[in-house]
Amino acid sequence: MQKKQVMVVDDHKHIRQLINDILRKTRRYEVVPAISGEACMRKLHEQPIDLVLLDIQMQGMDGLETLKKIKQFSPNLPVIIMTAHGTIERAVDSMKTGSYDFLTKPFSSERLLVTVENALSASALKSEVQDLRSELKGKYTFSNIIGQSGVMQDVFRAVEKVVDSDVTVLIQGESGTGKELIARAIHRHSKRKNKPFRPVNCTALPESLLESELFGHEKGAYTGAANRRVGKFELADGGTIFLDEIGDMSQPIQAKVLRVLQEREFERLGGNSLIKVDIRLISATNKDLWEEVVAGSFREDLYYRVSVFPIKLPPLRERKDDIPLLAEYFIKKYSERESKTIQKIDSEVIRILSGYHWPGNVRELENTIERAVVITNTPVLTVEDLPPHILAIGRESVVEPEESLPKWIEKLEVEVLRKTLLEYEGNISKAAKKLGIGRATIYRKAKKYRLPISR
Ligand SMILES: Nc1ncnc2c1ncn2[C@@H]1O[C@H](COP(=O)(O)OP(=O)(O)OP(=O)(O)O)[C@@H](O)[C@H]1O
Ligand SMILES: [Mg+2]
Repeated sequence: MQKKQVMVVDDHKHIRQLINDILRKTRRYEVVPAISGEACMRKLHEQPIDLVLLDIQMQGMDGLETLKKIKQFSPNLPVIIMTAHGTIERAVDSMKTGSYDFLTKPFSSERLLVTVENALSASALKSEVQDLRSELKGKYTFSNIIGQSGVMQDVFRAVEKVVDSDVTVLIQGESGTGKELIARAIHRHSKRKNKPFRPVNCTALPESLLESELFGHEKGAYTGAANRRVGKFELADGGTIFLDEIGDMSQPIQAKVLRVLQEREFERLGGNSLIKVDIRLISATNKDLWEEVVAGSFREDLYYRVSVFPIKLPPLRERKDDIPLLAEYFIKKYSERESKTIQKIDSEVIRILSGYHWPGNVRELENTIERAVVITNTPVLTVEDLPPHILAIGRESVVEPEESLPKWIEKLEVEVLRKTLLEYEGNISKAAKKLGIGRATIYRKAKKYRLPISR
């Protein structure tokens, strides 16, 4: 076990010496002496300290003042106040300022050791609780989900709200924004965590197969059903079922799913016994599900059932401050897998990654980093490790100054148009909208400067 660092702040040498001898004898503590409040503060900035023993009556900055400074610097650092006879009231004041305990001089070595031990174990407990809380509040990460941007912090808070209950969650977001990751995180932190999490992708299967995937079938239910099959609703019993791309579900299946949600029971295809299930439903879609309702392709009653608690995952281009952290995370992940040591990522790389618009969101960023880590043969990731289309858009424009303003403006204009057209894959309408100018203008300029446009 590592020795704990205890700082002893007292202006009397013999007291420092005495405490030093008692603590060191146990071999559990290192003692860091300080002769004044000023020295204490300086040393706190210089080295890690686990506990402070602080004399209340000192020359210069006195004990209470020092205590205030310590608490400002490190609110959770435990401090034990040492008082002499007659200063008991000040010791009480010190407790109000946040000292953990106090010792009245003279004290026995046992009393000292017990007080120190208690203070350290209370502080260890407190920091464990705080670790747990900050994992839940997910400073920048919430069970492998990275996000320091305000919008992702909102998502973490939303997740925190739903983990304790069985509320039905709908996660909406573009492809690759992390919908499945969120669904799994909710399950993992819920009371159902020891029961199954069963994802079903509603797009991947044709209607008839999806139906038996969800509800199962009896032997001979249809041609080719040689054996009984247990469906995902049944397999998820006690746990969570995740309906991915729920917006792509056909109307007949929507009706059946609605019934399960209402009755919590169903029959296997070709079967006639009712199966009861206890499930939590999380669904995800990259569509605007309400628009599907308006368009008549998604049942309104099912919409209300599945969207009780909606969580919106913003596209990566709307939370660019997450990019450096995500890049770092994926570099670590893939360099470990590839057994490579990547010590550094070129700052130009981060700039380019932040300048790109990531239509494939976090998945695209992850794939880009994976590829870069695989191909690089130096310990530094550089722009050479990035694919050309990302370089072309993400690169800061380096428009060299020209001798005249009109020439300079023209050069800038070409650069802006080129970047925007690349970003929208040559789509004139989208580029025009982004730049706030007419389609005809873009078309004319693109012709003039020979920029890529699609027809
Ligand atoms: N915030 C994040 N932190 C770390 N990894 C992330 C984050 N968001 C997404 N990822 C990673 O990106 C990839 C895509 O995430 P996921 O499969 O959850 O997205 P999705 O929204 O379900 O995409 P699709 O709609 O295409 O199914 C996964 O490898 C996931 O681990
Ligand atoms: Mg997905």
